Amino acid sequence: MSQLAILGGPKAISHANPNLFRWSDVTSEHEEAVLDVLRRGAMSGTDVTRQFEREYAAWQGQTYAVGFNTGTAALHTAMWAVGVRAGDEVLCQSITYWASILPVYSLGATPVFIDIEHHSLCIDPDLLEARIGPRTRAIVVTHNMGYPTDMDRVMAVARRHGLKVIEDVSHAHGGVFLGRRLGTIGDVAAFSCMSGKSFPIGEGGMLTTDDTEIHDRAIAFAHYERFDETIEEPDLAPYRGLPMGGTKYRMHQMSSAVGRVQLRTYDQRMDGIQRAMNEFWDLLEGVPGLHPHRVDPSSGSTMGGWYNPKGLYAPEELGGLSVTRFCQAVKAEGIDCRPGLVYKPLHLHPLFHTADVYGHGKPTRVAFATRDVRERRGDLPVAENIGKHVYGIPWFRSYDRDAIARYAEAFRKVVANHGELLAGDTGDAPSVADWQNEPLI
Ligand SMILES: Cc1ncc(COP(=O)(O)O)c(C=O)c1O
Repeated sequence: MSQLAILGGPKAISHANPNLFRWSDVTSEHEEAVLDVLRRGAMSGTDVTRQFEREYAAWQGQTYAVGFNTGTAALHTAMWAVGVRAGDEVLCQSITYWASILPVYSLGATPVFIDIEHHSLCIDPDLLEARIGPRTRAIVVTHNMGYPTDMDRVMAVARRHGLKVIEDVSHAHGGVFLGRRLGTIGDVAAFSCMSGKSFPIGEGGMLTTDDTEIHDRAIAFAHYERFDETIEEPDLAPYRGLPMGGTKYRMHQMSSAVGRVQLRTYDQRMDGIQRAMNEFWDLLEGVPGLHPHRVDPSSGSTMGGWYNPKGLYAPEELGGLSVTRFCQAVKAEGIDCRPGLVYKPLHLHPLFHTADVYGHGKPTRVAFATRDVRERRGDLPVAENIGKHVYGIPWFRSYDRDAIARYAEAFRKVVANHGELLAGDTGDAPSVADWQNEPLI
């Protein structure tokens, strides 16, 4: 095996095919759809969005889909729609994008953070029950980096305690948990469709549910122009015409138009991604230190469009080589490989400890709650260390057997020569796993 590029050897990937990693093909169909909205001056309308919603709901196999201008807005609305109110608590994993939970603050509610499972990077269902209190209202789960949360175990806890479940499917459009489409198992689902996602439409979000009451509340909260006589809930009807959330979350119709086109080819594109990513991991089977973050392809579950895929790193199998040094070596081979997750443990951020966002004269995390639920360092050990055990892998957007083999070979090359990297290893910077902000409580 040739010398590592970081030590002066030849690069394993000397030229990358940009098409392999392109976010999406932009076809004349996309262009025409967007231009039609623009030419009609229909950017703020709802006709294209409603068509997109009908098609998205049919694709999901659900009764309702409601378009939003962001995934964050869909999550905020979902929280109110399932009944999160002042003084309530909402359980959520500590390792996720902030929008999975932060909107609860603006509803007067308090987040309670749960540790993740190492193998899935998703919420650990075994840890939910211990943190449920009298004011716990809901659980938010993120199918992290495409990995389906164990929804059977989450739903069992939720039903036992009368809690609502919000699925954040922003990383897993089209993913499946044991034969059931993600987003259809909890009470309501929210999807980000911003440009970086596997189902990108520009900026936008989607809320889906089979529950008429949740649907009606979502409209009442954020879509005043649709909050009309079709919304019959007796406790909503008196307020028709104005948004109960004081929010205007309508989807931009240029995004809806792109979304409609994306939907036509998404299943096919997802199949290509799944085939490519599974083959990549098959080629790395048994390589020490590198473990897949994926579900068994024969299990009846899938990773959807494999958003932002990761590998699980075991430094102890590579003589203690830090993930940072490992990634430097992979990068030198011509692959964009970053150590850690983009996410840091939310429960360690000062916004959830000391910040007085609304001027209560005390931290917001405490001001809204009937008990102090702030976690301390050491309470969620998997989340606090996971950054040192994760690295980015190529996100193949289409199947190209030879290219996939070359990329897998580059990873093998670094592992085969890892002993030569130990001397120059200065370890992981704290920022790989943690925030750089100042102390907590
Ligand atoms: C897990 C998760 N939830 C929510 C969001 C928020 O979505 P948006 O950026 O569309 O507001 C994102 C992405 O940005 C995300 O990754």
